[in-house]
Amino acid sequence: MEWFKIDDVQPADTFIKKVKADGKSICVVGYEGNIYALSARCPHAGEDLSRGWCKEGKLVCPVHRFSYSLENGRGSAGQNDYVRTYPVKIVKGEVFVCVSSFWQKIKSLFSRRKPFF
Ligand code: FES
Repeated sequence: MEWFKIDDVQPADTFIKKVKADGKSICVVGYEGNIYALSARCPHAGEDLSRGWCKEGKLVCPVHRFSYSLENGRGSAGQNDYVRTYPVKIVKGEVFVCVSSFWQKIKSLFSRRKPFF
C-alpha cells in the first residue's frame, strides 16, 4: 500500500478531481465535509466519472446517469455494478489516497497467512 498526496484540494471544499496514482485513474470527491476516492472509470461504459456530479451521497455518471455510493462504490438499485473505492486520510490539512497494486495485494495475502503448525 502506498499513500499518494492529492494536490490542490482542501478537506472542507466541495470538488470532484481526477488524479493518477500508481497508474490508476482515481476520482477524488469532496462532498458535505468528507472526502472520498473512487475509480474514475464508470463500469457501465467507461465514461470518466470525474465529469459527473454528486447527488444524495452518490457520484452520478454524466452519460447514462448511473450512480455510485461515495461511501462504498456500490451501484444504485438495479445496476448490479460497483466502482472500486480507496482509503483516504487527512494529515495536517493535506489529503492522501491509499492505492495498492495487484501484486501488493497478493503479497499481503501471503504475509498474513498463519503457519499450519
Ligand atoms: S457510461 Fe456511465 S452510466 Fe453509462
